Amino acid sequence: MPEQPTVREDTAQEQWHIHEDEEPRASARAACPEMTTDQTGSNPLTGYEVVLCVCGGIAAYKTAALVSKLVQEGCGVTVAMTRGGRRFVGPTTFRALTGRPVLKSMWRGTDPGALDHIRPSESADLLVVAPATANIIGKLAGGIADDLVSTLLLGADCPVLLAPAMNARMWQHPAVQRNVTFLSDNGILLIGPEEGRLACGTVGPGRMSEPEVLLAAIREQLLCTPSKAERGA
Ligand SMILES: Cc1cc2nc3c(=O)[nH]c(=O)nc-3n(C[C@H](O)[C@H](O)[C@H](O)COP(=O)(O)O)c2cc1C
Repeated sequence: MPEQPTVREDTAQEQWHIHEDEEPRASARAACPEMTTDQTGSNPLTGYEVVLCVCGGIAAYKTAALVSKLVQEGCGVTVAMTRGGRRFVGPTTFRALTGRPVLKSMWRGTDPGALDHIRPSESADLLVVAPATANIIGKLAGGIADDLVSTLLLGADCPVLLAPAMNARMWQHPAVQRNVTFLSDNGILLIGPEEGRLACGTVGPGRMSEPEVLLAAIREQLLCTPSKAERGA
């Protein structure tokens, strides 16, 4: 069972309108006819575990809303942050939203034998990276594992979903396009980016998909398979 967040009452008062997105839930049900009634209720993600990795982009602020929505749907969420990600949103925000410690390093765990670089994904049903920077996309495509998040991704024992966010020129760079094509061809799920006004003031592709869109994609991905906990995996 996921830990109950300590601030559930506060987060429930936020304006994320969690019951307004019936369409994605209905489409998840269409894609997965074996989905149980409980899974279409108000806590459809109860029993599921997500590791949510936050990298160094301005869109990290939107990830707090995504985490809040996942928790409100009953999902157990553990947040891991890169050093860059921590420059944009403080770990305290994610700790409060999830009720769990935020993973920041593979070296600083309380138990030195805890294998913090591998274990979190072993109990996770899905690993999400939002925002996924050009840097983390390049590292994953190149097989580089030089910090906690990149190591978690390379050792992932569950599906991986990336939500890219970056400047339009970065997104359109042939190196980034080559990397996303490679990752997509190798089973990594990519949601977005969307076209629109970017933080740098330009308009183009590179906006991270909105939390509601990411939530729908995560829900759809999770609900197609019973959780690891349910399968005893
Ligand atoms: C203000 C600011 C905003 C940034 N926004 C982005 C972004 O949206 N996407 C991106 O790929 N990189 C962005 N960067 C660059 C990354 O933070 C940088 O490449 C960093 O090394 C990423 O590390 P990480 O992937 O380990 O978090 C930004 C940098 C700054 C200073």
